Amino acid sequence: MNPVVLAPSLLAADHADFAGGVAAIERAGLGWVHLDIMDGHFVPNLSFGPQVLAALRPRTKLHFDTHLMLLNPDRYVEAFAKAGADRITVHAEADHDVARTLARIRELGCSAGIAINPDADPSATFPHLDAVDLVLCMTVFPGFGGQAFIAGAAENIRGVAAERARRGLAFRIEVDGGINAETAAVCRSAGADTLVAGTSFFKAPDPAAAARAMAGA
Ligand code: DX5
Ligand code: ZN
Repeated sequence: MNPVVLAPSLLAADHADFAGGVAAIERAGLGWVHLDIMDGHFVPNLSFGPQVLAALRPRTKLHFDTHLMLLNPDRYVEAFAKAGADRITVHAEADHDVARTLARIRELGCSAGIAINPDADPSATFPHLDAVDLVLCMTVFPGFGGQAFIAGAAENIRGVAAERARRGLAFRIEVDGGINAETAAVCRSAGADTLVAGTSFFKAPDPAAAARAMAGA
């Protein structure tokens, strides 16, 4: 079982001060930052690009957990790897050759992840489980922070966790969207070990305490 990691999403931070958001994550004693990249095509929203990662990279040692919500993610993995991404996750539902994109991510020296939406069948990830270091089971439909947790997505977590156990694999299972102390407990009991938190971290009166509560500490 992987140690539980909490990855605050910069999407919920002050977009006029991403460096301040990174500093808040470091002050909370955490090691990952989740970077939500949106193109206005795969999801109905725009966020930020590789230049933000390149600007933040020299300022922090945080693990850049990069979530590409892009229609053609294969066109951008090199730019994000060069900008300083440590981990790049792409959606099974996007328009690309998933296996080739995952192989390219690893060729570029990054950890590779595959993401599925709440309405996906978890078996969509099964052909790729030997090629990934992480499976992201979305717990909202991607595009915006602050949405309500979709409880049905726990089925995907359980399905991926069962296949991980059956095949004796060790990839992480990440969840993203509507994660707070209560929903984190549901996800952890279903098999998730990596928790993305935007609103529940950056809007918390005490982000470090919120992080501990979500991690089940
Ligand atoms: C896709 C994004 C959001 C965000 C988390 O929509 O990935 O899920 O990171 O947002 P919160 O934690 O505010 O629901
Ligand atoms: Zn995300």
